[in-house]
Amino acid sequence: MTAPRPVGPADVQPIVADEDVVRVRQLVRSVAVAARLSLVDQTKLVTAASELARNTLTHGGGGLVEVDTVTDGRRTGVRVSFVDEGPGIANVELALTDGYSTGTGLGLGLSGTRRLVDEFEIETKPGRGTRVMAVKWAR
Ligand SMILES: Nc1ncnc2c1ncn2[C@@H]1O[C@H](COP(=O)(O)OP(=O)(O)OP(=O)(O)O)[C@@H](O)[C@H]1O
Ligand SMILES: [Mg+2]
Repeated sequence: MTAPRPVGPADVQPIVADEDVVRVRQLVRSVAVAARLSLVDQTKLVTAASELARNTLTHGGGGLVEVDTVTDGRRTGVRVSFVDEGPGIANVELALTDGYSTGTGLGLGLSGTRRLVDEFEIETKPGRGTRVMAVKWAR
């Protein structure tokens, strides 16, 4: 599989308060519409982005999102990358398990997100922070 590469500049938005999660949803929706994702795929990506934004805020202590349109040479897609400098995730495999939460959530955010998108990557360093990247391709 060819790595997604950007088609244009990324939109960057801070995630430091509740209302930023709403703004992330609106941004991701509009970029997904422009990239011609189907309505169902737009909604899957917006739902995924919403969960990841919420994690950046609650678990990561705030951070930012980068949203851009990407291509693999054949398809166009939308990539969302959530970045924070929070505590990191000690055990990524465990964090991706349905029902695992260190907080009061259902622990379905990360595992559900992974199922909603086409590409999904977590880079994290304990004590340094977390970067979660997801791509949804137009089909
Ligand atoms: N950005 C992050 N920084 C640090 N830890 C994180 C981050 N994102 C997720 N985690 C860890 O991974 C766990 C699982 O995340 P997940 O989103 O699946 O569940 P949750 O946020 O606890 O609950 P839910 O999303 O269902 O409300 C979290 O409880 C937390 O420990
Ligand atoms: Mg969550």
